[in-house]
Amino acid sequence: MNNQIDTNIDRAVQLLKDELIVAIPTETVYGLAGNAYSEKAIKSIYSAKGRPVFNPLIVHIQSIKELDKIAINIPESAIKLANHFWPGALTLVLEKQDHISDLVTAGKSTVAVRVPNHQKTLELLGNLDFPLVAPSANKSNHISPTKAIHVQKSLGNNVPYILDGGECQKGLESTIIGFDDKDILLYRLGSISKEEIETFIGKTLKTVSNNKAPESPGMLKKHYSPNTPLVLTSNIAEELKSHPNQKIGLICIGENTFDESATIVKSLSIKKDLEEAASNLYNYMHELDELNLDLIVVEKMPEKGLGKTINDRLKRASER
Ligand code: TXA
Ligand code: MG
Repeated sequence: MNNQIDTNIDRAVQLLKDELIVAIPTETVYGLAGNAYSEKAIKSIYSAKGRPVFNPLIVHIQSIKELDKIAINIPESAIKLANHFWPGALTLVLEKQDHISDLVTAGKSTVAVRVPNHQKTLELLGNLDFPLVAPSANKSNHISPTKAIHVQKSLGNNVPYILDGGECQKGLESTIIGFDDKDILLYRLGSISKEEIETFIGKTLKTVSNNKAPESPGMLKKHYSPNTPLVLTSNIAEELKSHPNQKIGLICIGENTFDESATIVKSLSIKKDLEEAASNLYNYMHELDELNLDLIVVEKMPEKGLGKTINDRLKRASER
């Protein structure tokens, strides 16, 4: 019997206390969690994912009250953002406490931290006396998991237990924000839109470019990739015409009018709602990736709100 996927929180608590790793649900994507204070657990996370050690992890805490244990010199705007958006899909990069391991931060003096918004995982954190580090629970560079089964397919026996919390409600990773003397920095677009943060804080976020040494490897060019080649296009009809005799999976937004030209068509949101589109994106990418297609064609989203995050992920997924 396969009991790798289950809903038993006590079992997750026990494994984590034993310094083993467990996949956990969050509102964004599933995370591969381990005790943030255990070198053994952290090393297992990197090796299970095949993740390069220069890519630091996010620390997950149960409430803002624990932030002081993780970070120091916390700017006022960070506290304001945390109070407003936590529990939620906003990750803050802050100066780290001395005791936070270099394995967590990849040797940086800063640490990424958030309070996830998922009842099961909050309950789990409430039963532990340590925070959890958790990168997305997929093989490095692949599509993030939004269902327990995606974790199992990607990591197999590398993860002893997957705590099932249903389908992730948001479906895209958290937005990552940092701070310097003058500015609020945007390290990674995510499932809270840049505009929503800017409106709340009354300030424009400064996008940190990822040209040479990416500050946040979620910004690495090739990332979030399916095995099937993927192209992003603003002109579906043209794109489909230029690949005759190929088995094509199409992911679009709005009414689907392309049934005849593609093998399978998925609309991210019939009513063109970008939040709904975001929550379906990875799930559809996982689904189409299983069908042995020659190509996945995806329609570019409008460059606003979560459309920007979706386009960002798709651009990276289309890098070969
Ligand atoms: O929604 C999420 O953020 C999910 C769930 C599980 O919480 N986690 C996630 O983790 O997406 P991961 O490891 O796939 O992405 C974490 C990102 C990486 O791009 C990493 O480079 C960045 O966070 N990061 C971590 N620490 C950082 C730091 N000190 N400075 C800049 N970026 C950092
Ligand atoms: Mg990831």
